[in-house]
Amino acid sequence: MSGLSAPQLASYERNGFLVIEDFASREECERLKRRAEELVRDFDPRGLISIFSTREQIRMSDDYFLDSGDKICFFFEEDAFAPDGGLRYARERSINKIGHALHDLDPVFDAFSRKPELAAICADLGYGEPLLLQSMYIFKQPNIGGEVTCHQDATFLYTEPLSVTGFWFALEDATRDNGCMWAIPGGHNPGHKLGLKKRFVRAARGGTKFETLDDSPWPESMQTPLEVPQGALIILHGLLPHLSHINRSAKSRHAYTLHVIDGACEYPADNWLRRTPDMPLRGF
Ligand code: FE2
Repeated sequence: MSGLSAPQLASYERNGFLVIEDFASREECERLKRRAEELVRDFDPRGLISIFSTREQIRMSDDYFLDSGDKICFFFEEDAFAPDGGLRYARERSINKIGHALHDLDPVFDAFSRKPELAAICADLGYGEPLLLQSMYIFKQPNIGGEVTCHQDATFLYTEPLSVTGFWFALEDATRDNGCMWAIPGGHNPGHKLGLKKRFVRAARGGTKFETLDDSPWPESMQTPLEVPQGALIILHGLLPHLSHINRSAKSRHAYTLHVIDGACEYPADNWLRRTPDMPLRGF
């Protein structure tokens, strides 16, 4: 099974990201979109309205979020609610994302996440024992799809040594208008003096907190848009700074993401994402 070519690997090492167009077929993308639609239609929102935001306070001590590492959970857009607490749009237009164990619990996402092509890429990236840690279906809804501020995935998914890689699949065309990914090319490289800036950890007294390791600002002028067509895969180094803006357009920007770590690395117990012992992480 073909993984990455030498020029692709060199480009990834230089930039900290790699775009592979046509990784997934239109049919595969549509199948995942249909499955996400079914999941949203079938879930019961009573009692668990959890607003997702990367603005720090809102997510803190949200038990629903903290317990979602080995479940299929639903998170709403921050702007989904009217002042009276009701939804401003239909439910299927109000969900920000589904996470974080679709790849283990849903057969459709399981099959896509464990494609042999992905296993081959992980081998080429140097993984000896790749483990599928986390998956998210991100809707980036029309008009209200919230921003994701500049971050490194290793902040949220930390191992010693660092080993997380993000796989971001465009299930729809992603453009500047509908909130495509942006990145700081080369920002993963220690030569840029941008090491890991923060860790997002469980606080000893419950909830979560950020531990700041380096509070220097991101070099925002270097941000580059990664506009990609449906079916593209963007591989993201765990230290690469990336972000996406609010979707103010009338078009959604669905994406599926998967994060892989190496089982040979230590996974500290204070990581936010935890699993119960009866659902250990699995590879391909
Ligand atoms: Fe990310």
